Amino acid sequence: MAKNTQYHCQQCGSVTPKWVGRCEACSAWNSIVEEQISSRPSLAKSAKSGRKIEFSTLEQESSKQGLVRMLSGISEFDRVTGGGIVPGSVLLIGGDPGIGKSTLLLQLACKLSHNQTQTVYITGEESADQVRLRGQRLGLKDSQIGIATATNASDIAETIRRSPELELLIIDSIQTMYLPALDSSPGTVSQVRASAQELIQAAKANDTALIFVGHVTKDGAIAGPRVLEHMVDSVLHFEGDRSHHFRILRGIKNRFGATDEIGVFEMTAAGLQQISNPSELFLAERTHEVAGTAVFAGIEGSRPLLVEIEALVAPSSLASPRRNVVGWESSRLAMLTAVLEARCGLPLSGRDIFLNVAGGMKIQEPAADLAVAAALISSVTTRPLPSRSVFFGEVALSAEIRQVSQADQRLKESEKLGFERAYLPKPRKRTNVKLGLELSYAENFSELIDILGGIS
Ligand SMILES: Nc1ncnc2c1ncn2[C@@H]1O[C@H](COP(=O)(O)OP(=O)(O)OP(=O)(O)O)[C@@H](O)[C@H]1O
Ligand SMILES: [Mg+2]
Ligand SMILES: [Zn+2]
Repeated sequence: MAKNTQYHCQQCGSVTPKWVGRCEACSAWNSIVEEQISSRPSLAKSAKSGRKIEFSTLEQESSKQGLVRMLSGISEFDRVTGGGIVPGSVLLIGGDPGIGKSTLLLQLACKLSHNQTQTVYITGEESADQVRLRGQRLGLKDSQIGIATATNASDIAETIRRSPELELLIIDSIQTMYLPALDSSPGTVSQVRASAQELIQAAKANDTALIFVGHVTKDGAIAGPRVLEHMVDSVLHFEGDRSHHFRILRGIKNRFGATDEIGVFEMTAAGLQQISNPSELFLAERTHEVAGTAVFAGIEGSRPLLVEIEALVAPSSLASPRRNVVGWESSRLAMLTAVLEARCGLPLSGRDIFLNVAGGMKIQEPAADLAVAAALISSVTTRPLPSRSVFFGEVALSAEIRQVSQADQRLKESEKLGFERAYLPKPRKRTNVKLGLELSYAENFSELIDILGGIS
């Protein structure tokens, strides 16, 4: 077997002929690692003996007709996967160290095995005893799942091939797996890629669903090559703030369902508990109305979610004042402050701005603009916003407030949680939903500032 040395970027997977300090493809520093690649002679030989491909049609009966998804009964998980795990599909769950990936998957495995799904859990990071201990702590000890410690991907693939009854296999984590045929060490791009490929091939042939745990680098990407994300059917991120006990499972990619759903969990001593009404939890710490806080009526996937936004505008002693954002996009804040300052004369330049989404939640919707603006205005004027009110609406560069989708749903949830007033853009057509909320319409920021009592 001929061997040659290649240099692989551990961030993006690109290959260079010689070692360089900085990857030319993704500009990462110190990410190039030397890897020994054994060229397979069979590849060269088989190159000539191609075969004609047989085609089928879209109408032909699919082998997955009437496909039955594996439902775990953990509805927060099932919703994010698009209604359960599809047999034979491959799922990748990424997340920060210690966030609770192994806990989630062990609980999931036990739930599924209670539903008569043949499930095994293979760990390359912990001993079987450690997994058992965790299982005992979570109260899962009488479950029927198989546990093993293994890191050799060829062994695992062979196990899959010889266990036709196996329906779900969990690999914790893909970065610890290796193929002995490759010389590079576990965790390197070529090992991760090759092991994943080997396991996926075996699993697809056997219609076994696979779940990979993936480590996350410090900037939040799944460690190893991007290709790993292309090889799998679904990518989920398990995220949360270490200082909070909320954990959010977010769909990033899904070949069998929508990706905008989130699942909310709470980390407790007895494991992850699902939270079916997250708004209540996110607003639970809210005691009384303070200047600089506003409640945003958001939508995550198919579900309304109310969160509190806190802003603090303070005099700055720095030449370039601080803009500190947690849970929202800082570029969005820069745009909002520019609009508020230029169009409405809100004095923000030369001041530090701190913005925080309570509970460790990350908001991605532009509909939060209005709530953030209201929090900023309230902080500048040091007047609390009207009590028991919610805000939503997207802001244009002209300071106009734009419509956002699913307004009715946002309003209904706000009413359900005891809010009495909502600030929103004027809808184009009147809603026929009967609401007990008082609605205040603002067409632009200046109107909003007027409704809130002006700047002074
Ligand atoms: N006795 C306990 N009581 C409460 N919480 C606990 C307890 N033991 C562990 N935890 C929680 O579980 C978390 C670890 O969970 P888990 O091992 O599932 O994380 P992980 O994402 O798999 O981590 P890693 O990346 O190290 O594999 C801890 O950070 C802690 O929050
Ligand atoms: Mg773990
Ligand atoms: Zn790179």
